[in-house]
Amino acid sequence: MGRMNIMKTKRKLVIYYSATALWLVSILYWYYTYFKAIPEIDTSPHSIYDIYDNHYQLPSETSTVEAPANFKQDPNYQMLVEEYNITEKPVDDYHSSVYEEIFKNHNLTTVLANLNFKQRCDLYFRNLFLKNNNWILHPDRNYDVQFGKPYEDFINANLGSIREAYGNEKGTQPADDDGDFVKYKKQKYRELKQGEIDQMVVDDLDALRLYNKCYVTDDDPDQKQRVGNFVKEQRKLIVGEETKSQLLKNIEPFEYTKFEKLFNHGQSAHNYDHRIYPWLSFETPVFERWTGQLYNSIPNYREILKDKSQPPPIKTAKSEELNFFKKFKNQCNGKGIVLSIGDQHAVYTVNLIHLLRALGNKLPIQILYHDDISEDTKRALTTAAREDFSDLPESYRKASMYLPNDYLEKESNGLPKQEIWFVNMASVVHENYRDKFRGFANKLLATLFNSFNEFILIDADTAMMQNPEYFFQLKGYQETGSFFFRDRGTLGKRSKNDPPHLHRLAQTSIDKLMFNVDPFSNHTLHQNVFQGVQHSMESGLVVINRQLHFSSIIMIVYLNFVAPIKGKVYGDKELFWLGFAYNGDENYHFNQYGAASIGRLTRPGDRKRPDGTYHHSKELCSPHPGHINEEDGHSLLWINSGFRFCHQSDKINFDEEYVIGDKLAFLEKTPDAYRKFYFSPLIIRDAIIPPLASDYKHRLNGADEPSSGWMMDKYCKNYMWCAYLSVGGKAKNSDEDNTLEGKVIKFTQEEAALFDYYGDVWVGEE
Ligand SMILES: *[C@@H]1O[C@H](CO)[C@@H](O)[C@H](O)[C@H]1NC(C)=O
Ligand SMILES: *[C@@H]1O[C@H](CO)[C@@H](O)[C@H](O)[C@H]1NC(C)=O
Ligand SMILES: *[C@@H]1O[C@H](CO)[C@@H](O)[C@H](O)[C@H]1NC(C)=O
Repeated sequence: MGRMNIMKTKRKLVIYYSATALWLVSILYWYYTYFKAIPEIDTSPHSIYDIYDNHYQLPSETSTVEAPANFKQDPNYQMLVEEYNITEKPVDDYHSSVYEEIFKNHNLTTVLANLNFKQRCDLYFRNLFLKNNNWILHPDRNYDVQFGKPYEDFINANLGSIREAYGNEKGTQPADDDGDFVKYKKQKYRELKQGEIDQMVVDDLDALRLYNKCYVTDDDPDQKQRVGNFVKEQRKLIVGEETKSQLLKNIEPFEYTKFEKLFNHGQSAHNYDHRIYPWLSFETPVFERWTGQLYNSIPNYREILKDKSQPPPIKTAKSEELNFFKKFKNQCNGKGIVLSIGDQHAVYTVNLIHLLRALGNKLPIQILYHDDISEDTKRALTTAAREDFSDLPESYRKASMYLPNDYLEKESNGLPKQEIWFVNMASVVHENYRDKFRGFANKLLATLFNSFNEFILIDADTAMMQNPEYFFQLKGYQETGSFFFRDRGTLGKRSKNDPPHLHRLAQTSIDKLMFNVDPFSNHTLHQNVFQGVQHSMESGLVVINRQLHFSSIIMIVYLNFVAPIKGKVYGDKELFWLGFAYNGDENYHFNQYGAASIGRLTRPGDRKRPDGTYHHSKELCSPHPGHINEEDGHSLLWINSGFRFCHQSDKINFDEEYVIGDKLAFLEKTPDAYRKFYFSPLIIRDAIIPPLASDYKHRLNGADEPSSGWMMDKYCKNYMWCAYLSVGGKAKNSDEDNTLEGKVIKFTQEEAALFDYYGDVWVGEE
């Protein structure tokens, strides 16, 4: 071997060793940043039960460091709250009691400056567990105030002060059995208990939210990057732009308490699935294709349908993954339409499938059910989806000039066949909790347990007016991964305690500081419900991207158990956006316009003022709310309540219906004329979106004009609403005019022809 060669070998060795050293250093650095602050388990021979061993006293008793003050007194708390523009809850700032536990022993600045996201998660769940070894998110939690012995005890113990408070408030001394005083006592007790109940809700929601963020969606690249940057930027805010070594000099290192070190996660670290979702069976649903083929796991549509336009799963799920939802999330794939039905919805669903064929739908459809649906129903739906459909209604002739050349399927010369699947959810819920998912809650389950990554969730009586793929192209959806629609802008008020109560149950500033969970912002607080009216959302059609909002969907389902929230809203209507908001996910989009009334304008001559003149306002009466596309302010996206004029027609006694009042004046006043009209497809020529006053107040006036944009009428079992293009007018005795204008839409000939055709297909007209 020559000298040169030895030199070369030496140099190679040097390079080799330095590379190894570098590698080791980076491993150590990585180890340091990720694991240093997960405590080593304390295996010392001390015992917390040995009364002579004072090793395990609280740190505040043994340590020279003062126990920290309330975390809100930390100078960095205020600094960060301002930096993040957090508006603190105007009502009592309830936060999870786990934070109290943590900051009893740790200094906020020290925690924030030292711990990364993973370590914060570990700290949170370690303390949750230490606080109560048996904690579990119980779906049966009773959130009502109980009036029993504890109530009697409370009253007996506090009678003097309650009596005094009553006297001060009412200016009179009560007798013990005075009805008003009894009410007062109960009220005082309820107020006291309400605080405890609210605290319980806040604790529960926080545990669910953080578990999902920490251990279910923690593999999501976007989230990883966001929380990574958040922690990094936060450190900079606290220590300034200084170097790492300076950082360590100025900030105390983080130290676990002795108790925290005693807790051993063991093998199943971070798998608390059974404590967080005890209502699940941890089975996936059973997927049945229209052919009868069964899948006991999530079907991969790209492979099964050999359809390259179907997006593949985002990640391959690891089968050894401990976490149920993490695995499930990573198996979901594709795009499709989702509805949950029972046998009673079979007829509507057949009509809907016909309509989807007329709309040229190419997306697979999943029909989810919880209780069984009969074979007859499956047969009817499969027939609707698969039989040749080439006998088109008369109205097709007019519509066809507006439809593309390849509109009809080649082989059958008819409407395209639909790829439908029946999804049995019966086994996904633990049998103890199946009763909790009756009725509308089925729809919540369907939101979670359909297997699409991107889906349009509809009701059986929803009638789309655009090809379903179009909904995924809406800008609002593309930007946020969700698209919601507003309800009719009615003025029905809700209890004035609702908005502050709903707000009080939300996450708070400390959730933001620790976990980058956003508290409610104006986006949520400006929704109608928070402004004190009944309804915000019309949930007959929602579009969601599961990858972007996975944990928000879990929150939506969970709200089904939380009576103080669920009890304040009607059915599932508001739970979608509320679920997002309570998950700290305000990236949800609402169509800009409120629901419109869809049909034909009332002829002005049919509703003259008492003096014979015409109203300024235009009117449109219809049982169907509809939704106008915010992108062009004109096109109709979908309507609700099926496609017959009156979806309650089966239940109506027409001998009484035709004499209800003076609306529908264009109809001949006979039961038969009403019957025929009610069963026929809705004729769509116009739409009115009434104005909604920003103060949600009636616009009273002296001009015989409507004071609010929507008025319910008795027709069609109270489902008919009349909408007004303007509200308000001149006052009786002054020139003051409080008129507000809404929006009217006149559909084109082309649109009208298509609506007529779609309506005939839905109803099944020849
Ligand atoms: C935490 O420690 C910092 C000094 O590092 C101090 O300024 C702050 O007041 C302490 N916070 C609390 C809540 O005690
Ligand atoms: C807070 O508000 C200020 C001023 O409105 C704005 O410049 C800043 O970007 C906001 N910060 C955050 C984190 O939203
Ligand atoms: C939120 O809305 C309120 C009025 O409702 C307003 O005073 C406040 O400035 C808004 N906050 C932000 C951050 O836009």
